Amino acid sequence: MPIAIIDGRELEFPAGERLNAIQAAERVGIQVPYYCWHPGLTVAGSCRMCLVEAGTRNAATGEISMMPKLVPGCNTPVRDGVVIVTQSEKVQQARAMVEEDLLLRHPIDCPICDKAGECLLQDYHFKYGQDERRADIRPFTSRRRDVGDVTLFVDRCILCSRCVRFCREISGTSELTVVHRGAHEEIDVAPGFPLHNNLSGNVVDLCPVGALGDKDFLYRQRVWYLKRHQGICTGCATGCSIWVEENQDRIHRLKPRENPQVNQWWICNEGRYSYPHVHNDRRLAQPRRRDTQAVVDLDWTTLPAELLQRLREAGRLAAVLSPYLSVEEAYLLATLVRGVDPEARLILGPVPVIGEDERFPNGFTVSAEKCPNRRGVEEIIARFQSGRITTFDAFPSQLKGGRIGGVWFSGGYKKENWIEDEKVRSLTALKLLVVQDLFPSAVSALATYELPGAAFAERDGSYVNRNDHLQSVRWAVRPPYGVRPEGTLYWEMLGRPGLYNARAVLNELAAEIPYFHVAGGPVPDVGVNLKVNLLAEQPEEIGVRS
Ligand code: FES
Repeated sequence: MPIAIIDGRELEFPAGERLNAIQAAERVGIQVPYYCWHPGLTVAGSCRMCLVEAGTRNAATGEISMMPKLVPGCNTPVRDGVVIVTQSEKVQQARAMVEEDLLLRHPIDCPICDKAGECLLQDYHFKYGQDERRADIRPFTSRRRDVGDVTLFVDRCILCSRCVRFCREISGTSELTVVHRGAHEEIDVAPGFPLHNNLSGNVVDLCPVGALGDKDFLYRQRVWYLKRHQGICTGCATGCSIWVEENQDRIHRLKPRENPQVNQWWICNEGRYSYPHVHNDRRLAQPRRRDTQAVVDLDWTTLPAELLQRLREAGRLAAVLSPYLSVEEAYLLATLVRGVDPEARLILGPVPVIGEDERFPNGFTVSAEKCPNRRGVEEIIARFQSGRITTFDAFPSQLKGGRIGGVWFSGGYKKENWIEDEKVRSLTALKLLVVQDLFPSAVSALATYELPGAAFAERDGSYVNRNDHLQSVRWAVRPPYGVRPEGTLYWEMLGRPGLYNARAVLNELAAEIPYFHVAGGPVPDVGVNLKVNLLAEQPEEIGVRS
């Protein structure tokens, strides 16, 4: 194996692996500061914050010869025998000079800057900058310019060009560019061509200082009040890994979480700004029973037993399993209705599809299928129904003839009008209709029992994306008072002891259903691919569908 020497420490790395000095240093626990480099973008080498000393060791004699000048670590490939020095006095001086230069023109408006608290310029100044400012230029404010989807604070920009490269290489839209020359260089857009694409929010994450502001988040929270939780975007079937950032159970922003197997470093705007429904005042927050005329508010303490009783009395049952349910919840609901009626029909809930997949030049795809877990729910249904999956379109015909007496309808849709009138009409003759959803809808208006459901950030569970990649997360915010997450209710109704334990359910699933087998072991933060495992271990189990 090739060996490089970083600050006197030997780093072995696989032959053929492409590493630069920043990445190699990180492997041995040394941080090299940088602004313009990003692992997902081409190398610009413009900020010079990553300067290091570099040289080579002669394999035969062991003699080390260093280059006379400092080199940018981001653009220095590490090969066998390369020697990198990141902590010498020469390097420290260079970093301090870069910091001083950047701060010459950078306004000191940190008290009103959104980036304060997570700003690399701030952090590096304290770590690598010099104590005193030698220049007497003291800019305090920044010009602000609307460039489309985001706000540009022109004078805060350090010209790292990450946002420009992102628009060229990842979104492929090239709206942002550098205009003027020398000390007058600025980021801007061409007149009449604002920054407007479905990935534009990522430029705010990429900006190492506060030059690009997210219009949605601007001046809403100081970042040090935010707590971040691992989450999964439920906006489409891509299932991007995200951070859910909240303060006191209120989500303030969603950010991409690096996952090389799903979304790399990016998320789309659709997913990024999809959280407001979680805090919408119109959400259902009170379980209710609709008797002949009156609507009665119910208490969660006695409700599970009452629901069980009504299910037993309803005759033939059916359950609509929403593609917004986690696999654990879908499994528990299927177990519950099949426990009451072993012949109960399991139906896949409506799968919202809007337009076509949106593909970007680097391969990032926003799915047309706007739900997070169709694949997972399908596998659960297939297991209970010997491979047969009933889609929601076939549901009204199943209800004809009045053989089905009771239906449990799980929703979780982010909009109120997610079901067509014609399908609603088919539900009117039922003896029992239990609807669990986020918002009032045409179906909940008919429900015998209207139960409030939890939003994506309020529940534990796992989702399987369009590529059979399973990811598990825990809740990030508590649901509104009066809401009980689906998994908790099913767990209680099944008479399981203690609190709802999604991990225990996933283990059960892994033991019972070959598709989920690999999820029985530890699931890493980036998730696991179920199909790869299944193809390798259980080829005969695939393809049972009708
Ligand atoms: Fe290397 Fe900017 S990170 S020059």
